[in-house]
Amino acid sequence: MGYTRLELAGVKFQNITKVFGKDVRAVDDLNLTVNDGEFMVLVGPSGCGKTTALRMIAGLEEATNGDLFIGENRVNDVPPKDRDIAMVFQNYALYPHMTVYDNIAFGLRLRELKGTLWQLSHMAEAGQKKKEIDGRVQEVARMLAIDHLLQRRPKELSGGQRQRVALGRAIARKPRVFLMDEPLSNLDAKLRIQTRAELIRLHRDLGITTIYVTHDQIEAMTMGQRIAVMNNGLLQQCDEPEVVYNKPANRFVAGFIGAPPMNFLEGTVLNGKVDVGAFKVALPQGSPARGQVGLKVAVGIRPEDLYDTKSNCPVPVTEENSFDAKVDVLEKLGAEDTVYMVAEGLNITASIDPASRIHAGEAAKFAIDLDKVHVFDSESGAAIR
Ligand SMILES: Nc1ncnc2c1ncn2[C@@H]1O[C@H](COP(=O)(O)OP(=O)(O)OP(=O)(O)O)[C@@H](O)[C@H]1O
Ligand SMILES: [Mg+2]
Repeated sequence: MGYTRLELAGVKFQNITKVFGKDVRAVDDLNLTVNDGEFMVLVGPSGCGKTTALRMIAGLEEATNGDLFIGENRVNDVPPKDRDIAMVFQNYALYPHMTVYDNIAFGLRLRELKGTLWQLSHMAEAGQKKKEIDGRVQEVARMLAIDHLLQRRPKELSGGQRQRVALGRAIARKPRVFLMDEPLSNLDAKLRIQTRAELIRLHRDLGITTIYVTHDQIEAMTMGQRIAVMNNGLLQQCDEPEVVYNKPANRFVAGFIGAPPMNFLEGTVLNGKVDVGAFKVALPQGSPARGQVGLKVAVGIRPEDLYDTKSNCPVPVTEENSFDAKVDVLEKLGAEDTVYMVAEGLNITASIDPASRIHAGEAAKFAIDLDKVHVFDSESGAAIR
């Protein structure tokens, strides 16, 4: 691909806080470094401060406190147009009266031809710039497979094609940093998955530092080289997707990442076990919680770490790791089934092999993969490991 790699730039939040009005702490003392060329996803529930964080990088929102860096430069006081970033928003607005070509070329013309006087003496230079812009538009359009659509107007495009034009417009500018705020949210499910893959490929090819905001944990897991999980303006954990999934720092992260969500069973530490009422769960060997008899904890078990003991159960079934439950609802999803069950008043969800013969309304025995059990301090929510 002819697209030359650019001078890369990371982004660094250093003790960044944004307070709206008197007391809305949208972003609270954020410390986060996005490396040169990295694809970082900011994920968290609605209102946790994702968009605000992104808008501060763009310069559309001023930080109340802290220092923001793009590359080596502190940019708190740098105007948005000089930050060399490009943004794609959920509600990207294409210019309706312009063709796809002009939509992509628009920002380039503004920038490239700025200051070039359209006088006779500058005609040669202007012609050269125009050629450069044309080359860039064609290149980006090919990359996004919209080169056959360049003469159409936005209303003559599908939602996914419009989305690609918006992306094209941002890419064409060759920014040092890409900011994307839920750019796929108004696409249908199939197109969303397809565009997700395209964005991953695009990042691989261009290597532009990208900060991608979503509330969708699956998007975060599949796209991010690292993901930063936020809640209430506070960064909860930032790490590679596998680490966030396998070693969540606290109960919030554990419950937010993973679908169906992790089961949390409240209980008290006994000798090497946690009594959760309906049954006792053996603590993983080496868990520091073993030494804290009497401590109130939440045992976290992912639905995929529970097995129907009668069907392809990969863990040996013992007193220590199994319990009886009544199956309440069974959802057939094709590749797996989701079981909603009740064990002596405890509601538990399991994802199981569809070959299982479990039926709603019947009793069944389930086994826990004890190696995968998580333990959280009930009071602080912090993982105990
Ligand atoms: N201009 C503003 N004035 C006052 N409060 C604001 C303003 N913008 C955002 N907020 C508040 O700041 C908090 C964070 O908002 P933000 O838009 O960053 O959330 P978000 O994580 O992007 O959420 P969503 O997933 O819903 O887009 C929210 O409580 C929001 O109400
Ligand atoms: Mg938002």
